[in-house]
Amino acid sequence: MGLGSDMYRQQILDHYKNPRNYGELEDPDFTHVGENPSCGDTIKLEVELDDEGETIETVSFTGDGCAISMASASMLSDQLHGMTVEELDSLDTDDITEMLGVDISPMRIKCAVLGRQVAQDGAKIHRGELDPDATRTQE
Ligand code: FES
Repeated sequence: MGLGSDMYRQQILDHYKNPRNYGELEDPDFTHVGENPSCGDTIKLEVELDDEGETIETVSFTGDGCAISMASASMLSDQLHGMTVEELDSLDTDDITEMLGVDISPMRIKCAVLGRQVAQDGAKIHRGELDPDATRTQE
């Protein structure tokens, strides 16, 4: 996996074993499911926004995937609380590798960014800026 530091590796394992915000919301503003096409692993993310629809209030996710994808989704779900939808839009791959704190091999980048992709696609679909059929959406 190209994991660099013990501390970060511990953190990734901890998030993998004890994922934060794991589960489903009662009344999400949007729900989106995305898949890593290279392995078929999926993540479902649910988001509740504030009344203005600008700030993320609550996030939960479920998923079936490798340690990196699940740990990354778990860490991201923590970070998304209180984030504006604009800030979510601007999260890039570097933000995710920085969050994970380890070197991610090119093979595993798709695992690392799956949660972010699901969140960004979900938000875009919610705003009517992305055709759900253009993504690998599934129930
Ligand atoms: Fe499937 Fe990592 S191997 S998301």
